[in-house]
Amino acid sequence: MCGIVGAVAARQVSGILLEGLRRLEYRGYDSAGMALWDNGEIHRLRRAGKVQALADAQAEQPLNGTLGIAHTRWATHGRPSERNAHPHMSANRVAVVHNGIIENFELLREELIAAGYNFDSDTDTEVVAHLIDREVQSGATLLDALRKAMSRLEGAFALGVIQIDHPDRLLAARKGSPLVIGVGIGEHFIASDQLALLPVTDRFMFLEDGDIARLTVDQVEVWDRDGQPVERSVSRFEHGSGSAEKGNFKHFMLKEIYEQPAVMRSVMEGRISGERLLEQAFGNDACSLFDRTRQVQIVACGTSYHAGVVAKYWIESLVGIPCMVEVASEFRYRPVVLPEGTLLITLSQSGETADTLAALRDVRERVLGTLAICNVPGSSLVRESDITLMTNAGPEIGVASTKAFTSQLVALMLTTLALGRRNGILSETEAQIIAALKQLPDLLQQLLALDPEIEQMSSAFAEKHHALFLGRGALYPIALEGALKLKEISYIHAEAYPAGELKHGPLALVDKDMPVVTVAPSNDMLDKLKANLQEVRARGGELFVFAGQDQSIKPEAGVSVIRLPAMPVLLEPIAYTLPLQLLSYHVAVLKGTDVDQPRNLAKSVTVE
Ligand code: G6P
Repeated sequence: MCGIVGAVAARQVSGILLEGLRRLEYRGYDSAGMALWDNGEIHRLRRAGKVQALADAQAEQPLNGTLGIAHTRWATHGRPSERNAHPHMSANRVAVVHNGIIENFELLREELIAAGYNFDSDTDTEVVAHLIDREVQSGATLLDALRKAMSRLEGAFALGVIQIDHPDRLLAARKGSPLVIGVGIGEHFIASDQLALLPVTDRFMFLEDGDIARLTVDQVEVWDRDGQPVERSVSRFEHGSGSAEKGNFKHFMLKEIYEQPAVMRSVMEGRISGERLLEQAFGNDACSLFDRTRQVQIVACGTSYHAGVVAKYWIESLVGIPCMVEVASEFRYRPVVLPEGTLLITLSQSGETADTLAALRDVRERVLGTLAICNVPGSSLVRESDITLMTNAGPEIGVASTKAFTSQLVALMLTTLALGRRNGILSETEAQIIAALKQLPDLLQQLLALDPEIEQMSSAFAEKHHALFLGRGALYPIALEGALKLKEISYIHAEAYPAGELKHGPLALVDKDMPVVTVAPSNDMLDKLKANLQEVRARGGELFVFAGQDQSIKPEAGVSVIRLPAMPVLLEPIAYTLPLQLLSYHVAVLKGTDVDQPRNLAKSVTVE
């Protein structure tokens, strides 16, 4: 969490820093600040609240300078407040911005207090500023001071550092938290992700774990964890910068929901030829890895975890090999059994989720191989996995994940096909599945036409405090995802159950105040599901059903039905997601919540 940005240039950088922070605000938004070197001093401006509060303060009492660092915070140590906002400083000589967690900060803090340093905040970050200052005061160069400070830090961090005696340089370091360097002409930048810097450059250098970088206007020098100078390659950003703009949409989330037909095309692009999957899409080592795979272990968090649960249904039914799915924060802290021939699949929009990354690092030596399905090129998960499949969904800004989820599902279906080739998926079946996938863009486009109907339905939820979501089979994880979306952005308590579990508990909650949302495509589970719906009606529960073409589910008093077009069974989990996303969106808009940046949440959870 938290976003950092920094710049060294010949021009004024405060505007670049503020725009960078606005673009990083999805990572955290409880306070923001910046520090600029100007005329022999480091000046700092900080505000509690969103980046706009900082921008307003900057308009009133502008900071000037051609060297600066900035930060938007998601509190971990110390409550959100101006005094805990970054940058943190040591004796007005060193300023530091930090993303991550310093685990041993309490010990370091005691040591620094004993050495005469005063602490102005409750954060773990402040120790970094004092450690660097102490080294500089005892004669170290700034670079060595940062290196020595780093060697004392336990935990995860990305750092940006400026120092009063060096108006020409910006230092950066990373271990475990993301940091990219933006390469300009006669100016250089750092940021937590590329999006922050797209207005000023499209060329990026990714730092490896343990790297330290020194940026001046005309040079970027990098040293690796052993202190050896290294070259890190520069690559161009792959998406147009327009994809990080809201355009005519009221919220990023709505824009991202509407982008899904196009995203379905881009996740399949270059990976399918005629009626066949191109296995090269997974990279050169993929074939031999898939050949030897005997079971799959999927690990992920949040929405990505729900995509993993869908894949379990697909892999076990189509490939016929076992597939386990677990949330990363559980998986990493228990002694897991990984039978021989296990392929570990990590799923992550950002590629930087701390628990998912830790799970990968913990077990990668004990599995056959690792596949990352991810949306951010160059992210840690991508770089540390054996093979990768990018979801190509383009930048996702809304904190509640939408297009990243449906693109993960398509990527997982492609993975199912790749695994199935060795394990009995016939080429006719592969051809049928690919023909089905190709219908997705048009199908999702048709579903978007249901938006006005869904918006109308949403009014029934605005005054409710609870909701229950039901699904069966591969639609059960879609119910989970629907409930997660609703609680994330509308703050309505929502739970999802496999409909068959209804009578084992949740039925006790059903009354007229508990809307029950059901995903009920016309598949072979429909009769069972209808019986479950009767149980709800019999208790006075109000039903909101997303149904297929089967006419036996009819709208009547207490039953609202939105009918989806006929579709191949395989596409149901992907297609039925979209109306649930729209439902949550409209409920949140009616409730007036902050749709793109819901309270207490962050897009990229880079701390435990
Ligand atoms: C956070 C986000 C979710 C996301 C989850 C996992 O909780 O708010 O939208 O699903 O992290 O993130 P990842 O980037 O690993 O998919």
